[in-house]
Amino acid sequence: MTSEIRPKKLFIKTYGCQMNVYDSDRMADALAPHGYEPTPVIDDADLVVLNTCHIREKASEKVFSELGRLAELRAEGRDFLVGVAGCVAQAEGEEIARRAKGRVDLVFGPQSYHRLPELLSRVRSGARNEDGTLRAAVVETEFPQEDKFEHLPLAEKQVIRSRGLTAFLTVQEGCDKFCSFCVVPYTRGAETSRPVEQVLVEARRLVEAGVRELTLLGQNVNAYHGLDAKGRAVGLGELCARLAEIEGLARIRYTTSHPADMTDELIAAHRDNDKLMPYLHLPVQSGSDAILKSMNRRHTRADFLAIIDRIKAARPDMALSGDFIVGFPGETDADFEQTLSIVREVGYASAYTFKYSIRPGTPGADMDGQVEEAVKSERLAALNALITTQMRDFGRSVVGRTLDVLIEKPGRMPGQIGGRSPYLQAVHMAGPERLIGTVQPVLIVAAGNNSIEGKIVTHAERNPASFLESQELAAL
Ligand code: 5AD
Ligand code: SF4
Repeated sequence: MTSEIRPKKLFIKTYGCQMNVYDSDRMADALAPHGYEPTPVIDDADLVVLNTCHIREKASEKVFSELGRLAELRAEGRDFLVGVAGCVAQAEGEEIARRAKGRVDLVFGPQSYHRLPELLSRVRSGARNEDGTLRAAVVETEFPQEDKFEHLPLAEKQVIRSRGLTAFLTVQEGCDKFCSFCVVPYTRGAETSRPVEQVLVEARRLVEAGVRELTLLGQNVNAYHGLDAKGRAVGLGELCARLAEIEGLARIRYTTSHPADMTDELIAAHRDNDKLMPYLHLPVQSGSDAILKSMNRRHTRADFLAIIDRIKAARPDMALSGDFIVGFPGETDADFEQTLSIVREVGYASAYTFKYSIRPGTPGADMDGQVEEAVKSERLAALNALITTQMRDFGRSVVGRTLDVLIEKPGRMPGQIGGRSPYLQAVHMAGPERLIGTVQPVLIVAAGNNSIEGKIVTHAERNPASFLESQELAAL
């Protein structure tokens, strides 16, 4: 079903988190029945969408410089519409329309993606200036009553296949935690969970199209409490159990989680559900109780460490990842030292570190004791040095072990293939491309800074007894 004669080209530039990556695909899915095909080349585009991130100041400033560049292309005679989506659009809708007047045609928030075709026709019928530019951009930043997921079409199977063997699936959106540094509760709204059946329908479709690994997404994904067919609220652990029943699905991951929502049920799922991978992104942000309190994190350092102990008891090989903010208002050298010490105590497989960035409208923005930029930079460097060492050590710790690797793509060199370990490490090895899409036992032989090298363990090496038997039989 196409409502346009000539196929139109859609270019989406995605900033920020994995949910934006997922959302960009769903925008493409919403426009596909209206004749839009994705293009990786901005010069071919009829519609350019910037899917923006508002989490830190730099992220949103990038949007305005990109709008400037797009305006130059249009001034050179290129003819395309410009849309701004995502969290900057949600937070600063009218402000963008005003500040980028003539450079942007459509501004729409994350809850309006299903309305994209209709919004575009509003743009096309809008009042124009003499030079053809719109008098005013169409701005849509309401939180509509209807569930956008009910209205977003599922992608065609070959489109899903072209996106790879691993896929994101949003199961939860928004956040009710109100950490004092964070804009998410304002841009993504109150916490909501998609119903279990809706998630299963999308998951089955992805797996039927060839997806082998799903990463469930949510701003606070472990607070998931979607309703099942009987109207009963189901937690994330149970959702993962339902997903694990899907034949052909090899692996399940989820991100990102809040320590306070790490329930016994979810921790037990890491022990009981073979498809749930032993890698957990569980941000703590700071190791200092005073800072955790003023961040409104709702847990102490000791609470967090106790949660880590429970997780390790259920799944001793769990690889841990986290987010850390340095230079939150009031953070002293001693507070920062506590952050270094919690990193040493937990031991991270990977971590993301940020300098505190003032977000207007959040409580942190008005707090006393804002930390100087130079101090933030110093602390960030010290934290990064520690984390880099830990990441390298974690890579080395798997050398000599045989890990299940999901083979995802051809490698960089001919004859090479690449995939991921259960701990989300990129693994390269020699092997034929026909193994793409399978899970193989791989002996890890070396660890570099960003990836590890392995060697596929052959059937004979895996089963030395039966190998010997077959040799003996052959010798008879
Ligand atoms: N400044 C710096 N980092 C932030 N994050 C969220 N808000 C801010 C902010 N104002 C970080 C947190 C969060 C991650 C997604 O981004 O560490 O977990
Ligand atoms: Fe932001 Fe805190 Fe919610 Fe995470 S839990 S999205 S950091 S408010």
